[in-house]
Amino acid sequence: MPTLVSVNVGLPRDVPWDGRVVHTGAWKEPVTGPRTVRRLNIDGDGQGDLGGHGGENRAVLVYQLASYRYWATELGREDLSPGNFGENLTVEGLPDDEVCIGDRYRIGDAVLEVTQPRVTCYRAGMRLGEPRMAALLVAHGRPGFYCRVITEGEIEAGQDIVKVADGPEHVTVAEADALLYLPGHSREALERALRVPALSAGWQGSFRSMLEESTSPPPAWQGFRPLTVSGIRAESSVIRSVTLTSPDGAPLPNRRPGQSIALRLGPGIVRNYSLSNDPGAPDYRISVKLEEHGAGSGFIHRDLKVGNTVDVAAPRGAFVLRDGAGPVLLISAGVGITPVLSMLHALAVSRRDVWWLHGARNGAQRAFAEEVATLLNRLSDSHSRVLYSSPDAGDADYDGVGRISVATLSDLGVPSTADAYLCGPAAFMADLKSGLADFGLAPDRIHSETFGATAGFTPGIDSVQVAPHVPAGTPGSGPEVQFARSAVAAPFGPPSATLLEFAEACDVPVRWSCRTGVCHNCETALVAGVVRYDPEPLEPPADGNILICCAQPSEDVVVDL
Ligand code: FES
Repeated sequence: MPTLVSVNVGLPRDVPWDGRVVHTGAWKEPVTGPRTVRRLNIDGDGQGDLGGHGGENRAVLVYQLASYRYWATELGREDLSPGNFGENLTVEGLPDDEVCIGDRYRIGDAVLEVTQPRVTCYRAGMRLGEPRMAALLVAHGRPGFYCRVITEGEIEAGQDIVKVADGPEHVTVAEADALLYLPGHSREALERALRVPALSAGWQGSFRSMLEESTSPPPAWQGFRPLTVSGIRAESSVIRSVTLTSPDGAPLPNRRPGQSIALRLGPGIVRNYSLSNDPGAPDYRISVKLEEHGAGSGFIHRDLKVGNTVDVAAPRGAFVLRDGAGPVLLISAGVGITPVLSMLHALAVSRRDVWWLHGARNGAQRAFAEEVATLLNRLSDSHSRVLYSSPDAGDADYDGVGRISVATLSDLGVPSTADAYLCGPAAFMADLKSGLADFGLAPDRIHSETFGATAGFTPGIDSVQVAPHVPAGTPGSGPEVQFARSAVAAPFGPPSATLLEFAEACDVPVRWSCRTGVCHNCETALVAGVVRYDPEPLEPPADGNILICCAQPSEDVVVDL
């Protein structure tokens, strides 16, 4: 009979780490006597970073005494004691290769349901003074697991743990962990795991993305290739389209609606722009807004001519129209129209219901009005709302004054089952994303693309928004690193040991969790160049991508950050 060995709790604290301060609840201490397990926490317990831990699906973390004995031998540690792995419940029995997602256990008065393996996170390494720990937990198949609380109640060390229900599909914790983090996962295994209703929403989202990736082709070519400027056209007073064609006239490879391309516009000037035309067209079209002091947009608006040659990287990006038959909501502001216009081209030959919501300053700055109207007319069921924030006296062809907001959705009667695609300035996106969630759209149906660099994700660390810049101090002597979305280029060098650390030194927004090549949160497209790894990732990233947390440039590189 499995037993509860120890109940461990701890409130979040600030811990110095690597020159920064990490707010973490990884420090837990055993308590004696009964404790009440509640929907979000055990009494006296808390999580520091609710993005990575905690919430209903991750209310209670369980770790096994057998794994303590294993790590004592493996790491030569005699100092490990309950709570050291950040777990709330230290248990005898319940091994990761037997416990299944969806299993339910009664302890004392409480009933818990297994929802997912432990989140692979650098803080396990901080807590144990072993930086490799996040990778080791996965590589050795001993992650432990999270539970949601089905029935709140009192528990106490020494109680028996009684299984009261089997999870469907019999996906063990170790299997689910390997599915996400280790190579060799099959489509069937992913689909099986997705049939377990108890699997947390976060892991379901990850498995769905992996299923989609398994059908996504790698970038059509590596690095840059020359394309010819075959057309330039003013779309509004501030937006100009550039059409790019293969020099030999052959059709360019297809792309997914919503993807973007990087262009090398001069020494140290690589810029990323969404494709705005039909994803099946033989050429590529970008549409660029002239920005004050923008080196890239300034070159395109003032210097680029038909007949010029430009180095272009293959289409990339995960902001793409998903397959499906349900309603679609395309929301954009200003030049954010470009990726959703490409999606509208793809949707115009479908039978899906489409809602088109667009905001512009005024008629002079609005682009693609005729093209959008033609595409919407092809659909049997389409709805459109165009708002101007500051219309001119002569403007006529718009639906109202103001900005696109959730109130606009309510007016139009948008169904909450729609898939929403948003593109525009950061403030517009932040308002709408939270508004859409309040409106009732499921988080995994809200897809967004911001101008420039994507938002960072730095678990447990407050990040201050600073404009990207070259690193302080003496320039490095290594290969040049260009961050395409952030418009920063500088030679690589110490003290940065990885591309992640170099990006952080440049205040380029980054996403990461384990920092040891396990979780793939830092996976980023490599537009050009070659990297080497130290340490080697547990599972290589998709073709054309790199894990920046353990990558160093072997030659000049362009990274899609
Ligand atoms: S941060 Fe986890 S793989 Fe890079």
